Amino acid sequence: EKGGFDHFMMKEIYEQPKAIRDTLASRVKGNIVDLSQEIGLTLEQIQNIEKIHFVACGTAYHAGLVGKYVLEDLARIPVECDVASEYRYRNPIITDRTLVVVVSQSGETADTLAALREAQKHGARVMAITNVVGSSVAREADDVITTWAGPEIAVASTKAYTSQLIAIYLLGLYFAQAKGYKSAEELQGIVTDLLTLPEKVEEVLKQEKTVEAFARSIAKHNNLFFLGRGLDYAVALEGSLKLKEISYIHSEAYAAGELKHGTLALIEDNIPVIALATQQSVFEKTVSNIQEVKARGAYVLGLAVEGDTGLIKSVDEVITIPQVSDLFAPVLAVVPLQLLAYYACVERGYDVDKPRNLAKSVTVE
Ligand code: M6R
Repeated sequence: EKGGFDHFMMKEIYEQPKAIRDTLASRVKGNIVDLSQEIGLTLEQIQNIEKIHFVACGTAYHAGLVGKYVLEDLARIPVECDVASEYRYRNPIITDRTLVVVVSQSGETADTLAALREAQKHGARVMAITNVVGSSVAREADDVITTWAGPEIAVASTKAYTSQLIAIYLLGLYFAQAKGYKSAEELQGIVTDLLTLPEKVEEVLKQEKTVEAFARSIAKHNNLFFLGRGLDYAVALEGSLKLKEISYIHSEAYAAGELKHGTLALIEDNIPVIALATQQSVFEKTVSNIQEVKARGAYVLGLAVEGDTGLIKSVDEVITIPQVSDLFAPVLAVVPLQLLAYYACVERGYDVDKPRNLAKSVTVE
């Protein structure tokens, strides 16, 4: 049942290229994204959306954070992103021109479901991105984009997250086509790029051994940091959650530019830092933040796009991902972080698939 892998989590990490392919399939025709079969919104309704709220928990919330960048960049619609357990208690401003997008692998998370109902009560249209056809969230939402990741057994979410990112890119592109801020040619170029992600994930998976060695070398530490800017920060949050969840190593994700405002005080000799530098738009800035922690003795694993030699001299170890646009880098960057959490957990001798105190689906508040 684990397909030759020791744990479901590793099996699911390796299923990501397929999960991405399946989530893309039938929604991309030529170089055009077509979601008209699953989304009932008319062109006019899309053009009338005033704002989008992404609402979710845990890993799905981290997918929503990427969603904020994607929808704002591609469709120029203002986006807020909330944790479901906060959203429904904070009296958010919801109108009939608000689109609420709930993201949930299981489709059964109590807070997410309650947020969906709250949003509908206030007249919003609710779209669900979920991995389970017929789940509560899928049944109650007005529109559903299914992620075709297949059953996810490990408590730590991996392939569901990357598939959620794909669903979000598809949504962003579909709305972008309707809004017309970018030319058709430009959008088609972006779609072409999107289609290369499955094979690029396969490339990243080939670096498993390098990540394993780094994970084993840091497994005795009780504290570490993830740094990144822009979308790398969203991925850093996900990497940090994954590590905490299964290896029980405390970690914090920081927007790299924010370090100087307090956290730098915690950087001391040998503290492991995982620094994400995949975003070309802020690459130099990120490198200078990395140099700041390096100068204070941190042991740095850098994550960069192939060919970005500028990073190598500022870090101790490096993992590269294939060339990719900033927007799609999260799909590739998260993979080494999943492997890192996995091997740190194995090295520390904990149960990979069933971490203590956690359930796969949180159906109570
Ligand atoms: O089923 P959902 O996507 O609604 O679950 C949300 C979170 O409980 C879930 O992503 C959790 O954070 C994962 N265990 C993280 O790996």
